[in-house]
Amino acid sequence: MDAKTGTLDGRTALVTGGSRGIGRAVALRLAADGAFVAVHYGGDAEAAKRTVADIERAGGRAVAVQARFGEDGAVDRLFDALVPELDGRGLDILVNNAGIASASPAAALTPAELDRLLTVNVAAPFFVTQRALPLLNDGGRIINMGSVASRMAVAVQIGYSVSKAALEALAPTLANELGRRGITVNTVAPGAIRTDMTAGYVSIPEAAAALESITALGRLGEPEDVADVVGFLAGPDARYVTGQTIDVSGGTWLGPVVPA
Ligand SMILES: NC(=O)c1ccc[n+]([C@@H]2O[C@H](COP(=O)([O-])OP(=O)(O)OC[C@H]3O[C@@H](n4cnc5c(N)ncnc54)[C@H](OP(=O)(O)O)[C@@H]3O)[C@@H](O)[C@H]2O)c1
Repeated sequence: MDAKTGTLDGRTALVTGGSRGIGRAVALRLAADGAFVAVHYGGDAEAAKRTVADIERAGGRAVAVQARFGEDGAVDRLFDALVPELDGRGLDILVNNAGIASASPAAALTPAELDRLLTVNVAAPFFVTQRALPLLNDGGRIINMGSVASRMAVAVQIGYSVSKAALEALAPTLANELGRRGITVNTVAPGAIRTDMTAGYVSIPEAAAALESITALGRLGEPEDVADVVGFLAGPDARYVTGQTIDVSGGTWLGPVVPA
């Protein structure tokens, strides 16, 4: 974690899925900028504890909050844990990052799998946002973790693509609704990032090489590549950006890559 910049001093943030992967990097970044960060997790308490400890070791402030999206009452449990930690300060930054992937082509996608994708990747961030609205301070930020999957055809990701496209559709309407309060709502759309979610295929050299070959910058992403963009959107410099999707994919699938 970098030294504190102070741009988010006095701000509060909730990062769903903040315990591991991209969310962990986001939590570290927001804390480095000075925010008090609620690190949400679904079930891996050890990972959440590690993230909180790493933030504190670097001089930041954080707390872990648990709720397994998809279980009845999960959103209520999340806010029951969060609100006392905010101590009346309200919420300045909401990062809807928690999400799950799938690996079924259209012919194999079951109703149960599609339902789970839509529950965790769309309904959970929607209802987390709904519950957060009364807590959100004017000038606040909502950032949803989309994916390049919403613009790219990847056969085994059809259910995931649909869920991320639906998530992306939240930002423009919410941006219009909340803009007069200075609250911005944006989507960040990462390409393939090295996390537990992608470990299964990016650890296969041929698969990693195939992804790199369709990426303008010629490499896979790291969680910090995404976290730095979230940090920008969460900060004061992004005050006039709202309702947008920001692609953070190193230029994945822009067209045929023709090296100079
Ligand atoms: N990695 C990529 O290449 C990539 C690309 C584009 C978009 N994204 C998106 O970025 C986000 C983070 O991905 P990642 O790669 O960092 O994933 P990850 O390493 O698998 O981490 C997922 C995080 O979400 C939490 N989570 C998962 N299911 C949950 C549930 N049902 N209820 C509550 N929390 C849950 C996990 O907590 P527990 O471990 O405690 O369950 C963990 O903190 C996701 O929305 C993903 O779709 C990722």
